[in-house]
Amino acid sequence: MNHTKTIGIVGCGTMGTGIAIVAARAGFKTRIYDLRPEPLENARKQAAAFLKKSVERGKLPAGEDALIMAQFLTTTDINAFADCDLVIEAVFEDLKVKHGIFQQLNAVCPAHTIFASNTSTISITEIAGGSGRPDRFVGMHFCLPAQLMKLVEMSPGMNTSDATYEQARLLCEAMGQRPVRTRDTPGFILNYFLIPFNNDVINMVDQGVASAADIDLAIKTALGYPLGPLELLDMVGMDTQLLLCEAMHGLTHEPRAACPPLVKRMIGAGRLGRKTGQGFHTYDSNKIFGA
Ligand SMILES: NC(=O)c1ccc[n+]([C@@H]2O[C@H](COP(=O)([O-])OP(=O)(O)OC[C@H]3O[C@@H](n4cnc5c(N)ncnc54)[C@H](O)[C@@H]3O)[C@@H](O)[C@H]2O)c1
Repeated sequence: MNHTKTIGIVGCGTMGTGIAIVAARAGFKTRIYDLRPEPLENARKQAAAFLKKSVERGKLPAGEDALIMAQFLTTTDINAFADCDLVIEAVFEDLKVKHGIFQQLNAVCPAHTIFASNTSTISITEIAGGSGRPDRFVGMHFCLPAQLMKLVEMSPGMNTSDATYEQARLLCEAMGQRPVRTRDTPGFILNYFLIPFNNDVINMVDQGVASAADIDLAIKTALGYPLGPLELLDMVGMDTQLLLCEAMHGLTHEPRAACPPLVKRMIGAGRLGRKTGQGFHTYDSNKIFGA
């Protein structure tokens, strides 16, 4: 499938790389911007490895990986986003950094370009307020790992126009994703549920209720989850879990959202999860998820 539309992704870390794979795999021309060439090169390698594995597993026809990679343009020049119909921002979880990016994009992109943020915890209305086009702005929260997970929580800000939301929703579906509408509230649907739930599980490990392997096995077996909560936390990373908890607890004061002491000890010990090879479980290498 080849789309005439172009999607830009800003920030090619964990989420940006996955979202770029989703966009290019759905046939969109895909532009990926980051500050330095190194993360862009890394994203390109990770995407190529993931798509090659998808061909080997029969999930993509032979040769399709090369065609998808041909849709990728990686760049350190934000002017390359001048032809984008939708730009999805996935940079650090920092309001000032996000505002800076959208101000640059607002100067480069045509009036019809929709801006979206993949933020997990910052208000969409607040980010949109510094974007120069709050009516053409929407929250698009992909789940980790974006290239495997279909859900996108879509949140209009207070000033998002109905037409913008609808156009973004259609683009999201055209990316092969399943959009779900949520209000612009802390944690949207998934993190409102998952942060306290995951913290309960972390505290269970700390109290020695059962091993990490047995807790994951129990929850997967009983509830039918494809991943155990501790396997998922190892993907998210303890450093990110700490930031998520601090943001959610700061906004909601929900006691179960407070960061468990074990997370801070694991950060101190360098046990961040998959990215350091050791979290609640041990990993051989730092491969892209699903590859
Ligand atoms: N990791 C998750 O589980 C997850 C899930 C859903 C949403 N999110 C959200 O997605 C966003 C990105 O998270 P991540 O985990 O991918 O972060 P990350 O740290 O892996 O990647 C961030 C990337 O942004 C780049 N960047 C930073 N400032 C920039 C700038 N001014 N211009 C261009 N690029 C810049 C960095 O170089 C880096 O490559 C955050 O808003 C986060 O809340 C994260």
